[in-house]
Amino acid sequence: MHTFRETMRIDIITVLPELLKSPFEASILKRAIEAGLVEIHFHNLRDYTTDNYKSVDDYQFGGGAGMVMMIEPIDKCISGLQAERHYDEIIYMTPDGERLNQGIANQISLKENIIILCGHYKGVDQRVRDTFITKEISIGDYVLSGGELGAAVLCDAVIRLIPGVLGNETSALTDSFQDNLLAPPIYTRPREYKGMKVPEVLFSGNFGEIEKWREEQAYKRTQERRPDLLNN
Ligand code: ADE
Repeated sequence: MHTFRETMRIDIITVLPELLKSPFEASILKRAIEAGLVEIHFHNLRDYTTDNYKSVDDYQFGGGAGMVMMIEPIDKCISGLQAERHYDEIIYMTPDGERLNQGIANQISLKENIIILCGHYKGVDQRVRDTFITKEISIGDYVLSGGELGAAVLCDAVIRLIPGVLGNETSALTDSFQDNLLAPPIYTRPREYKGMKVPEVLFSGNFGEIEKWREEQAYKRTQERRPDLLNN
């Protein structure tokens, strides 16, 4: 049975909205937005500054290289949003956050309203994290110039899991990682190309055999490439 699902709403706070827009203007994410399954709202932090220079960052107390994003514009933006609706999660994109994986994407895809704050420079004043942030996410052990590309990655991973976004309802369930296994090899026409043949079993018409072969291949691939997944 299907239960009614509210449109998911994602508010993204950034100093560089233009860096973030294009991933939402093509393919699956675009269609999800057009179908009303998700709403994306961009907020330029500079619109929430009070000084004439529209500055969002300042020097670090205690000294040290790199600027720090100030709490005031972020407070104004987040508090304004919270006055309008309840948010289930306020996520800060940062390399020292919890490393993103399929399980986290699954959890977030069940939320209704979320805010994603993109960090820049050295990051945000610690008081922002202490006061507003409910989840801190890293997309991997490397440092990006800002949280925007990470936010795009997170949104893509989450939005494709919303029921109705992918044409075939089951296709997200057969992705790599959904069962802690990598996906098996896949083939399409032609049946033979420059002497390279498609495995015979796929033409057997025996779906039990095909499923068994796919499971074996998924297991083999996982063992070879990502044995760490099998130990969980
Ligand atoms: N901002 C900078 N580096 C990042 C990373 N690896 N993940 C998420 N946000 C980031």
